[in-house]
Amino acid sequence: MRRRNLLTLAAAGTVAGCAKPGAGTAENLAPDAPDPAGSSSPAGPAFPEGFGWGAATSAYQIEGAANEDGRGPSVWDVFCHEPGRIRNGDTGDVAADHYHRYVSDLDLMQDLGLTSYRFSVSWSRVLPTGRGAVNAKGMDFYQRLVDGLHERGIAPVVTLFHWDTPQALQELGGWENRDCAKWFADYAHTMFTALGDRVPTWLTLNEPKTVVDVGYTAGTHAPGKRDRNLANVVGHHLLLGHGLAVQALRGTTGKSRIGAALSLSPAYPADDSAAAAHQTAIADGEENRRWLDPVLRGHYPQDWLDTQPADAPVRAAIKDGDLAVIGTQSDVLGVNYYGTTHVTSTGGRIMVHPTSQATWQEIDPNGLYDLLTRIKRDYGDIPLSITENGMATTNPLRDEDRIAFLRDHLAAAHRSIQAGVKLESYHLWSLMDNFEWAEGYTQRWGIVNVDFASQRRTHKSSADWYKTVIARNAV
Ligand code: FCB
Repeated sequence: MRRRNLLTLAAAGTVAGCAKPGAGTAENLAPDAPDPAGSSSPAGPAFPEGFGWGAATSAYQIEGAANEDGRGPSVWDVFCHEPGRIRNGDTGDVAADHYHRYVSDLDLMQDLGLTSYRFSVSWSRVLPTGRGAVNAKGMDFYQRLVDGLHERGIAPVVTLFHWDTPQALQELGGWENRDCAKWFADYAHTMFTALGDRVPTWLTLNEPKTVVDVGYTAGTHAPGKRDRNLANVVGHHLLLGHGLAVQALRGTTGKSRIGAALSLSPAYPADDSAAAAHQTAIADGEENRRWLDPVLRGHYPQDWLDTQPADAPVRAAIKDGDLAVIGTQSDVLGVNYYGTTHVTSTGGRIMVHPTSQATWQEIDPNGLYDLLTRIKRDYGDIPLSITENGMATTNPLRDEDRIAFLRDHLAAAHRSIQAGVKLESYHLWSLMDNFEWAEGYTQRWGIVNVDFASQRRTHKSSADWYKTVIARNAV
């Protein structure tokens, strides 16, 4: 199953941790790195002092305990229980059982030496119907998780929305309904109040693009709709929710920082033709600028708007003042990077580089350097965090392919810091094997293997390798 198969359509024109501020500057790069692990391979140049070494997860993908302690259902609970939606009929009901095993998972993170951990809050665990009274037991879980991170010297990076819209709100239209942006900001405010400064970095949305493209256009993610017009309206409301949540944080007295986590993919022409260059610009608008421009500049790119027909519902959805809200200054930008995009003269996509077990992924480490330096060039010096980067592989324990992937991407990240990019932290996807959405448990993205029958965790080779990298502060 191609998770992002719709991209081809979009390009063809068918559709009208951030751990420590101050880290990640070229000036404070240390010249060489000690080798505390005593490894025989020489360490490369060191990352800046205080660079955040992290891993990422999301609530529905690891927590399980779907029906416990007052949690309400989300769109993903409902979607997974519909026949034929998920490979092998898998669900996130139990997932990696992290809700019950979070203490040993925290110990695992500490053993790896993580200094940053990105996780998401299940909206319907703290607000079972998305609004109204807080479910104390649900909130207590996140309090304990955040406390446990601090006890181990790990900075929490907390995502408020990683795709699991409360089902009760979906029944009111979910993100199709403009009010959802407000409900989201109210929920965000509830979280800011409960966790306050104990969370140094908040992320509003994870990859709104994937909700639009896969949840509402391809229909292979929850809520399983196939309507590009509706999808673009949802995209606007998600961005509005982001802006309102940023404003909600500004309304508190806290010192936490906030931003969005966007999935970004540099687009390159597949050949030298003028037509391919033109199609690449359109693809870049759809993949990247359509999200970056509203959040960081407070407007949609005109060329992207021009792809929308005069009667496209998204035009009516964009109300006066919305873009000012969406463009409320962020403190940080989260970058999810999985690979590049190559665009043909007719707007199709071809793979130029190798893929992974996830066949939508085009592995191209240089693309990460291009992306990070491009953000600096076009959007200025906003602090950046890599909030996701990783690959799926069928190698259960000896995942040398993943080590090569991580090494090459970290080298590219390091080069971007040398080029002056303010990159503060890196979160690999993922800490452990988990429920990979429509692929169920068949795709393994973790550096820690999970045997889902026994819930036993075992380090893969990449976990041991990453531990050494963190200890050295160098690849
Ligand atoms: C990203 C998602 C994350 C995971 C990885 C493989 O798009 O944010 O939850 O599925 O892909």
